[in-house]
Amino acid sequence: METHVIDHPLVAHKLTTLRDEATDSPTFRQLADELVTLLAYEATRDVRVVPVTVITPVSPAVGVKLASPKPLVVPILRAGLGMLDGMMRLLPTAEVGFLGMVRNEDTLEASTYAERLPDDLSGRQCYVLDPMLATGGTLAAAIKFLVDRGADHITAICLLAAPEGCARLEADLASVDVPVTIVTAAMDERLNEKGYIVPGLGDAGDRLYGVVG
Ligand code: URA
Repeated sequence: METHVIDHPLVAHKLTTLRDEATDSPTFRQLADELVTLLAYEATRDVRVVPVTVITPVSPAVGVKLASPKPLVVPILRAGLGMLDGMMRLLPTAEVGFLGMVRNEDTLEASTYAERLPDDLSGRQCYVLDPMLATGGTLAAAIKFLVDRGADHITAICLLAAPEGCARLEADLASVDVPVTIVTAAMDERLNEKGYIVPGLGDAGDRLYGVVG
């Protein structure tokens, strides 16, 4: 597994405002969207392309276009939805599959409550959107789910990551024979006793969409 922490002043600037508890939900959504687009630019460095020749007004030119099958973007519900538009801005022809996962706040283990994905992901590059790589349980379960369906290249885009989550992901995916890359805006200090990232930005879902019961 490779982890890329994106070192860019615009990434740091937007992330700092996201962290600020005074940032309201509309601003948080807007900034998360912009930040994902910046992260997506880095995350798609390995996107598969094939050579193509086009005719310019002057002469033929050799370039590339996205290979088939098209990449699959998989936001993990609920908070990953807040990252979808920012990702699709860069990959408008990608397909989108949905994975609903919830973390039990006592055991911190993840379970799947909804799934809308192609049955066969053979040969697909998948981009998983999950804002907070905290304990790593949700992301590990999501990645295994995609690999079991045949995905052969996985990149997870996370706004923030914690060292504990990355370590767990490494361990849980040790037997997974598919390249996995994590792209994040920052590697924070640690998790607290409730499994929240410190200093983090709080509950990403609540900050995007408000608190639900
Ligand atoms: N999920 C969140 O939304 N925030 C955290 O800090 C950890 C998990």
